[in-house]
Amino acid sequence: MPNAAVTPSSTVDPTSEEASGSSSGVEYDPMDPVLDESPYEVWRAMRDQQPVYFNPRRNFWALSRYEDVAAALKDTTRFSSAHGNVLELMSPEPVDSGMMILNDPPSHTRLRRLVSRAFTLRRTAALEEDVRAICRELLDALDPGPGGGEVDLMQEYAAQIPSRVISRLLGVPGEDRERIRLLIDECFHLDEEHGFVNDVALTAMGELGTYLDRRLKHLAEEPGDDLLSALTGAGLTRRETIDFAMLLVMAGTETVGRLLGWAALLLDEHPDQRADLVADPSLIPQAVEEVLRFEGPSPVQARFTTEDVTLHDVTIPARSIVLLLTSSAGRDERQYGPDAGVFDIHREQRHHVSFGYGVHFCLGASLARLESRIALEELLARFPSWTVDRDRSVRAHTSTVRGWSRLLVRL
Ligand code: HEM
Repeated sequence: MPNAAVTPSSTVDPTSEEASGSSSGVEYDPMDPVLDESPYEVWRAMRDQQPVYFNPRRNFWALSRYEDVAAALKDTTRFSSAHGNVLELMSPEPVDSGMMILNDPPSHTRLRRLVSRAFTLRRTAALEEDVRAICRELLDALDPGPGGGEVDLMQEYAAQIPSRVISRLLGVPGEDRERIRLLIDECFHLDEEHGFVNDVALTAMGELGTYLDRRLKHLAEEPGDDLLSALTGAGLTRRETIDFAMLLVMAGTETVGRLLGWAALLLDEHPDQRADLVADPSLIPQAVEEVLRFEGPSPVQARFTTEDVTLHDVTIPARSIVLLLTSSAGRDERQYGPDAGVFDIHREQRHHVSFGYGVHFCLGASLARLESRIALEELLARFPSWTVDRDRSVRAHTSTVRGWSRLLVRL
């Protein structure tokens, strides 16, 4: 385990009952597939009894209250992203990456500023018609016709949209798109034994990197109106451009797909709210925010402490891995009131940290919102109701992304 190499230099004995929470019996492990099915009660127990939690077996700390998570996300001086932001991939030394998500200021500031010149709101907004066409084409293909029928809404719709959109965003030419879409899918291959760090995924990432490198060489001769050309024009080196394009793929594909899966399930479980959206599609953007708060697809952001941090009378030693539980924050009664555990698209307080917070706030949030809004607009316009077969549907388990890999739905 890479994180096993990270040794906390203790000021509090992290294996003590007080720090580990063993006295209260709270046990949290984001890699536990059984717990991942329903972590809500454990998150609540952590928020109430162990707001600074330590897991001695996996050697990580965790913050679960909205206020603490938001403060730590903003505090890049003490909670560094430079050692990784995924539990399984944490490194005791800073990693050398052109990916902004793995950089702290000031190198993060430079990368984000340059990238923002090319990845603009205008470029995102310009994708609206492409996204709508993609959604309609997918719905045409899966439509079982007047008699109805069963489809896998994850595989046939939700998971298909983001990889197609990213490939449009990157300006992948039409003849390469299907190959690139399949490569992107393979980047997310999950192996029972090795999770998401497996040969299929690593090979696909290598091939995608090679493709991007070749494409950038071509664009250097003949720049186009696409994002990759704009990134080069903005002053990024070729390696930084490739790293950024890979980051877009890694951060912007699985997350959007899982969000749409959660939306389909939650709306089926709350048919009155689904009917409200059919009657008034202008409510869809706020429904997307409520899905993000209630079932964030990216529930855990890892950090590495650069110094001792004392919170709620517990000291997290320097050089510790700390998991910031953004999805637990989304359920925090202290922030959302006693009905925090209720899904309600009409609720007043919807601000959440499911897109992160502070300097690393999701760069693709506008694109994620645009894709989700259009995907739901088109789905609800075509199928005003559906029934999810939850028992036969299948979850995808990783420590970083929560959601469904197959969602069997009767239309
Ligand atoms: C529902 C969908 C999405 C969710 C829930 C999500 C969530 C997040 C979160 C929580 C972070 C902060 C990570 C951290 O603090 O360590 C983040 C960062 C980021 N996201 Fe997203 N994301 C989504 C979609 C997208 C899309 C569509 C793109 C781009 C195509 C994207 C690109 C990025 C990038 C580049 C960063 C790094 C920003 C930085 O380090 O400054 N994301 N996202």
